[in-house]
Amino acid sequence: MKASAPGKIILFGEHAVVYGRPALAVPVIQVHADVEIAPSHDDRIWIDAPGISLLSTLDALPAEHPIASIIHNLLSSFGISPPPPFEIRITSSIPVASGLGSGAAVTVAILRALSAYLDRPLSNEQVNQFAYEIEKLHHGTPSGIDNTVVTYAQPVYFVRGQPVETFRAGTPFTLVIADTGIPAPTRESVGDVRKLWEADKDRYEKVFDEIGGIVEEARETIEKGKTKELGRLMDANHVLLQRLTVSSTELDRLTEIARKSGADGAKLSGGGRGGNLIALVETDKAAQVSESLLAAGAKRTIITEIK
Ligand code: MEV
Repeated sequence: MKASAPGKIILFGEHAVVYGRPALAVPVIQVHADVEIAPSHDDRIWIDAPGISLLSTLDALPAEHPIASIIHNLLSSFGISPPPPFEIRITSSIPVASGLGSGAAVTVAILRALSAYLDRPLSNEQVNQFAYEIEKLHHGTPSGIDNTVVTYAQPVYFVRGQPVETFRAGTPFTLVIADTGIPAPTRESVGDVRKLWEADKDRYEKVFDEIGGIVEEARETIEKGKTKELGRLMDANHVLLQRLTVSSTELDRLTEIARKSGADGAKLSGGGRGGNLIALVETDKAAQVSESLLAAGAKRTIITEIK
């Protein structure tokens, strides 16, 4: 039994989305988590995740281990005890801690493969709900946007606690995603924004409102295919993220390099402080912007088309 789930990036609205404002996120199919399950060669459950040098039986791992906890949670919610022995192999090309949703993608792929293997396939809604519970175990107060876009594998307009809305671009557009190579400490940046907000709610509610306004304008702009205008909105969203203290010298420097080398706009994407930035480019400028970012120290780039 096989399943896979894509990476993701947040186009607009990170952080403010934790406070009930909308955000836009899209799948990044160039990177993905893949899971394969087969009957076990003995009477135990085996987990093989070569990317993190993990080869272990399930019962040898602490119950709170990220992968073990997904399996335990799913088996117990199905009420399957004792579970049939199986071998689960997990591979992923999604860089870890870069804001590309690697944890959510691994979770979703495991849930899909394992539920199908056990003949209890889950709907997207169930996978999403389950993955959100798992995200909460590891990330504190996540909005749920990461598990949602990874589950539905389509562009989503996301508001915490509301039914998922997908959207489509009126005209496809191209992004360069560039990794600073610095791990994005999302839990920490989300916690720091909370401290700022708690100390001065009026001020930060206004910043969140401004970000929410940009998200609404961006969605309309994307759906109408007026893509060129998105660059200005990205730049404006980046400035508001700086105000939330979640940018960094490196993210500021690389977004500026992207603009100078031909991008129409750029911003950090995801938790910030490290991780990825995204730059809006005309398709024929994608290679030049990508090369400039790599020459300036970005660790890797992905060129992707949003449809
Ligand atoms: C992380 O991908 C996005 C944040 O808005 C956190 C969240 O929504 O849970 C920073």
